[in-house]
Amino acid sequence: MHATVPLPTSDVDLFADDVLRDPFPALRQLREAGPAVRLTAYDAWILPRYEHVRSALADHERFSSAHGVGYEDRFNAQMKGTVLASDPPDHTRLRALLSDKLAPRALAKLRSRITTLADDLVADLVAKGGFDAVPELAAVFPVTVVADLVGLTEEARGPLLSFADAAFNTFGPFNARAAASIPAVGQMFEYLNTVMVPENLDPDGWAAAIHQAADRGEIEAASVVPLLSAYVIASMDTTINALGSTILLFALHPGAYQEVRSEPGLIGPAFEESLRLESPAQGFFRRTSRAVDIEGITIPADTRVLLSFASANRDERKWERPQEFLVRRNPVDHVALGYGVHGCAGQGLARLEAHAVLGALVRRVSSIELAGEPVRKLNNVIRGLASLPVTVRAEGQ
Ligand code: HEM
Repeated sequence: MHATVPLPTSDVDLFADDVLRDPFPALRQLREAGPAVRLTAYDAWILPRYEHVRSALADHERFSSAHGVGYEDRFNAQMKGTVLASDPPDHTRLRALLSDKLAPRALAKLRSRITTLADDLVADLVAKGGFDAVPELAAVFPVTVVADLVGLTEEARGPLLSFADAAFNTFGPFNARAAASIPAVGQMFEYLNTVMVPENLDPDGWAAAIHQAADRGEIEAASVVPLLSAYVIASMDTTINALGSTILLFALHPGAYQEVRSEPGLIGPAFEESLRLESPAQGFFRRTSRAVDIEGITIPADTRVLLSFASANRDERKWERPQEFLVRRNPVDHVALGYGVHGCAGQGLARLEAHAVLGALVRRVSSIELAGEPVRKLNNVIRGLASLPVTVRAEGQ
């Protein structure tokens, strides 16, 4: 039993433009304020420290996803039936369908194709000498890879990118960003219902497999669109921004880039460190199923709680020199990919893609420099860049 302690509160708006641009000072203040903090700007609480974020991720009974993992009830309602917005046992059944395709054995078959694709893309860009690493590299690669795996025709790929950005905005409170994203989310559901239908899909792809499972009666027909949305939303902006942020970190830390070049075994650890430092998915909400005590602070039942991966991943109680990019740290227990039953189902693929692109850069590029100001893209959940102009020097030049 902990003694009752004063209730930590904060009026910070974590979804305001200036905070999204650089959330880390505000998150640090929240970690200082207490282990669980009531956010008075919203009807919500936040867990800002690593220990409690990780425990909550492991405790789906008290920190439920079944109401949705966003803030707004109206948008959470649209997520019903997805892997993200469900608890076991429903979640277990839905997730089994996705995990099969994303399991290490399935991914091993993709490795050489993905490596070649990354190498060709990077070779073309290096020949140009300068390029924008977001639209020309980070954004091209996951769309190509995932659309191939999902089994989408060339013509059907066009709108994919705008969907994920919009969908993640609606996971936040109903601010201007969420409001502006409503039309694109509507188009996404229209697309999932009318374009991602068997006649437009490669019969051996992931999306067709979901339709086939429904035809065999293994899942309800109503689960098809929510499952398809998991592929379309979860796999794009997360990976794109993880890649963009890693390239920015390499450009800002030339010493670290040279260290990775001279020891390519550091590609994996450097990517994990970038995930820890930048947390491409900054956090998701849960709903308490009953009152929860966190070190003497009681979060009431039926309360929205933001699990802040971004804050946990820079918690000075957990990490030494948490604000620094240390390519040898290898922070395998960061929570940028979640943890517990909802831990990222696509993490193997995300790593495969990232290692392929970073491996191609390290082999082909001897230096990366900024060629202009990077431009942040503000999103209610995703941290990343709209533009990252770089100049690269080809290996051997
Ligand atoms: C670096 C890139 C990525 C990041 C940072 C990321 C992050 C996350 C996080 C934090 C969660 C946990 C959500 C929660 O706890 O509520 C998650 C879940 C998920 N991710 Fe990823 N993800 C990435 C790439 C991918 C890719 C490439 C795919 C698919 C091909 C994918 C598919 C999923 C799915 C389906 C879930 C839901 C799992 C569940 O609820 O059981 N993700 N991701």
